[in-house]
Amino acid sequence: MEMSPRPAAASAEWWRQAVVYQIYPRSFADSDGDGLGDLRGIVSRVPYLAALGIDAVWLSPFYPSALADGGYDVDDYRDVDPRLGTLADFDELTSALHGYGIRVIVDIVPNHTSNRHAWFLEALAAPKGSRARDRYVFRDGRGPARAEPPSDWPAAFGGPAWTRVGDGQWYLHLFAAEQPDLNWANREVRDDFLATLRFWADRGVDGFRVDVAHGLAKNLAEPLEPLPVKRHPADWPVPHGTHPLWDRDEVHDIYAEWRQVFNEYDPPRIGVAEAWVHPSRRPRYASASGLGQAFNFDLLEANWKAGEFLRIITDDLADAQRHGASTTWVLSNHDVVRHASRYALPARDDRDSLTNAKAWLLGNGTAPELDRGRGLRRARAATLLMLALPGSAYLYQGEELGLHEVTDIPAERIQDPAYLRSGGADKGRDGCRVPLPWATDGPSFGFGAGAAHLPQPAWFGPLSVEAQEHDHASTLTLYRQALGWRRTLQGAESLEWMPGTNGQVLDFRRPGGWRSVTNFGSRPVPLPHGTVIVTSGPLEEGLLPADTTAWVIPAS
Ligand code: NOJ
Repeated sequence: MEMSPRPAAASAEWWRQAVVYQIYPRSFADSDGDGLGDLRGIVSRVPYLAALGIDAVWLSPFYPSALADGGYDVDDYRDVDPRLGTLADFDELTSALHGYGIRVIVDIVPNHTSNRHAWFLEALAAPKGSRARDRYVFRDGRGPARAEPPSDWPAAFGGPAWTRVGDGQWYLHLFAAEQPDLNWANREVRDDFLATLRFWADRGVDGFRVDVAHGLAKNLAEPLEPLPVKRHPADWPVPHGTHPLWDRDEVHDIYAEWRQVFNEYDPPRIGVAEAWVHPSRRPRYASASGLGQAFNFDLLEANWKAGEFLRIITDDLADAQRHGASTTWVLSNHDVVRHASRYALPARDDRDSLTNAKAWLLGNGTAPELDRGRGLRRARAATLLMLALPGSAYLYQGEELGLHEVTDIPAERIQDPAYLRSGGADKGRDGCRVPLPWATDGPSFGFGAGAAHLPQPAWFGPLSVEAQEHDHASTLTLYRQALGWRRTLQGAESLEWMPGTNGQVLDFRRPGGWRSVTNFGSRPVPLPHGTVIVTSGPLEEGLLPADTTAWVIPAS
């Protein structure tokens, strides 16, 4: 099913209700058979993306990188990893996507560079107190011979957030040691990122996903503040902006400058913040004088319960309305267990949540049996519900195929620093980053001409694009239908809860009368009278079964 090219929506507000498809470039499509996905691979699949019916793609980093953290360790922000292509390939990709009216969002990683970035190499060669070191966060250690780290701050991937260099100083890295943190109090750092934003915007990029957006401003005054509570920093929701490292108020001065650059373009470029912050702090990132949009991970963290979904949707829409932003919705991305697998965990209270899914992945071979059928049923229902909501929806490559997490990657093939730095205790994120299956067989299920850089399981074949493309009941068909209807029916950013909503069922109406009904309970329920246009699973004698969503155009 190919779609004819359509002109890009001219509106500056195109992003408010856009469906954005995340591509993890090294695992999407491999054009040259080296096992790594590349830009020309993506070019070859642009018709697939157009047929899916998305509005934009977000490309995870494709920059030169040693891949110490899947590309989030950037050597050069204004180039393409030679294994993935060239800037000319990037231009070709952008114009191919634009030809179908699909916008392009690139990932900007401003909290840290890689340890191979020219600036970091210069800092290592430069003396203590030099201008080159001031672009990063270098400090003397504590204790005798200054042999202890300057503070007790932990790195997100395990171990201390400080690493010692040849002359005895230490540098800060809130993630892997290969990801030294930049000093955002340094004007040169700020100006350089403004130049990077212009570099990509001038090439026609429509927007930027901002990595660790809540981490740039830090309190680095001596003595360095101890952390209030020792927890994984990304899980840290501090409501008041007073944490030494995360979500400090000053970070918004940086985004006010970025906004000025965005507004130099017509239409203005957009930003979406990856900010794991307390929901009450999210609007500041999503403000019109800041990045404009922020990821909302609330559904991704929720259990499969009507009450939880109801509260989240109600609160987040009210928040968005109060602050003038449109909300975002996410169920899967490259950092979390795929939602089909989260919903397949054994039925126990709170087993569906992200936290527990992670704990399950820590299981070292003791992982419980997954109910894959139930997981996929719920994943399809959750997606259809999400796609009916006002605001923009972010999809992650492979979820349109109903892919599950790959849980049996052999230890020697795992790439994620979360695994490597935790001594194997944390299985990490590779399970959702396994290259996509395009064909039912072949050396890498059509991903490329050779073996893929992460091993693909045998069950990928029946879930491939080829296997699903012409199957009316497939997950791929469901996504295509839902996105097609969404485009047709999408109206103002509001919804009205219908009387059928209760502890088991969520039933809401969008402007124009279109209804979405989801059954979280265990018994089939009736649907409103009208035309059922799409369902996440088969109806039972006209009733909506458990774990199923239907969209209905009511009879007038
Ligand atoms: C968030 C990214 O999504 C994740 O993949 C990465 O490891 C960290 N930021 C550090 O850049």
